[in-house]
Amino acid sequence: MEKQGHIRRRLVLVPFPFEGHLNPMLQLGAILHSKGFSITVAHTKFNSPDTSSHPDLVFLPLSDGLSSTPKASEDFVDFIPKLNLHSRAPLQEVLTQIIQKQQQHEELPCIIYDAAMYCAEAVAHHLMLPSIILYTGTATNLLAYYAYPRLIDEGYIPAQDPEELVPGLHPLRFKDLPVLNFRNLDALLQLTATSRNMGTSSAIIRNSLYCLEQSSVAQFQRQYQVPVFPVGPMHKIAPTSSNSVLKEDAGSITWLGTSSAIIWNSMYCLEQSSLTQFQQQYQVPVFPVGPMHKIAPTSSSSLLKEDSSCITWLDKQTHNSVIYVSLGSIASMDEKELPEMAWGLANSKQPFLWVLRPDSVHGSGCTDLLPNGFNETIGEKGCIVKWAPQKEVLAHSAVGGFWSHCGWNSTLESISEGVPIISRPSFGDQRVNARYVSGVWKIGFEFENPLERGKIAKAIRRLMVEKEGEEMRQRALDLKVNAELGIKKGGSSYNSLNELVELIMSV
Ligand code: UDX
Repeated sequence: MEKQGHIRRRLVLVPFPFEGHLNPMLQLGAILHSKGFSITVAHTKFNSPDTSSHPDLVFLPLSDGLSSTPKASEDFVDFIPKLNLHSRAPLQEVLTQIIQKQQQHEELPCIIYDAAMYCAEAVAHHLMLPSIILYTGTATNLLAYYAYPRLIDEGYIPAQDPEELVPGLHPLRFKDLPVLNFRNLDALLQLTATSRNMGTSSAIIRNSLYCLEQSSVAQFQRQYQVPVFPVGPMHKIAPTSSNSVLKEDAGSITWLGTSSAIIWNSMYCLEQSSLTQFQQQYQVPVFPVGPMHKIAPTSSSSLLKEDSSCITWLDKQTHNSVIYVSLGSIASMDEKELPEMAWGLANSKQPFLWVLRPDSVHGSGCTDLLPNGFNETIGEKGCIVKWAPQKEVLAHSAVGGFWSHCGWNSTLESISEGVPIISRPSFGDQRVNARYVSGVWKIGFEFENPLERGKIAKAIRRLMVEKEGEEMRQRALDLKVNAELGIKKGGSSYNSLNELVELIMSV
């Protein structure tokens, strides 16, 4: 950046307002700020981040007018289009103001947006600003999503055998494919219908306007779960095709619109073939710059208050003895599963740290649902908190295993500390991540349903005490070393980050 002299580029980050998405976006903001960029975070008022934890970043709230929160994974199907619909105009307003206030020596701002905030691409296009996507999951996951139309056309879906390997997506099995909720057949059928309608395309750009057909556009997005970009009237917008670094024949990458590249919180050492395949198949520059929380450790961006008392409890436990249990920020369990989990943990005889969010059991205050006598039985052997400082927990020497839903941040944070994983994926990309944990990196295994106390205790002892678990821990430690090498000078993420900075300065 120094070689650019007086030129300082402002980056406007547009995060998707949920824990697993806000964290990586704010980490990216901290990293790019350390590279000399000015950073503005244009965030929804809904689930607004704690701005005081990030004094180097400028925060601009968008009046999204949203009040209801998605309570379950299914709710996101409706929520994402609604959020995009509500955020588009305020984002455009904020960006217009930034451009108007721009100093003479400043370059036009570049937008970096979470893939789920796709309205930012439409705004960037409208204002003729460069834009880049941050995809907070893995390339493997996105490849799997985009394989649906091909799999449907070739007659593989609906799948006959969930255990069968998916052609072209080795080692994923049909049951590992990312869907919002596999138990929800309607969602799968709707996805199938959408894919049929759209061929291999991933979004629809319309030469139309919200003011002409707002309700139809919204209904279409909702019904077919597909990003729609009404960007018309196009003849009134200056020709911008030269803005795009994408090849004309990039096929199903239309959802990128005029965006120039994809940033991943991932690494070549974790999914080299998927990243390379994605780049080749969709002819788009990819920048795997993870694990970002290790490049620029930032203050917490948690939406929930972290309970640090668990660190004092961890300090009293022996090396590698504690199993840490967390389902991330959205996944939940059935009411009848809670006592099974509780007694499974107690019966494993291992010390445990368990994160039980207030909504961990389908909307109820779950600590009240803990079985009678449970707290007395576990005594000092267990510690239960509503929200933990997870990165600190995983880095603690007492933690020897992670029972995880395998959200991508949790998986990456565990890998970064060499902690092996028992995975119990719930929805979305978690199945893909869980498959890689057990079948590719071999740093853990998947817990097969049903959630039953005897099976839970056995699984925990398998990871924490048995030789097989020790071997998984060793492989996790090896992967941790590789991840550390990747972010050091000359490592793959280090190089990708420098290339990303160059690209940002050139677009
Ligand atoms: C969601 C999806 O579930 C996930 O599959 C997708 O990859 C990202 O979006 P989430 O459920 O929040 O994410 O899981 P995850 O990606 O693991 O992110 C959770 C974040 O919350 C992590 O950064 C973790 O460190 C943090 N966390 C979790 C805490 O800080 N404290 C806790 O007690 C639990």
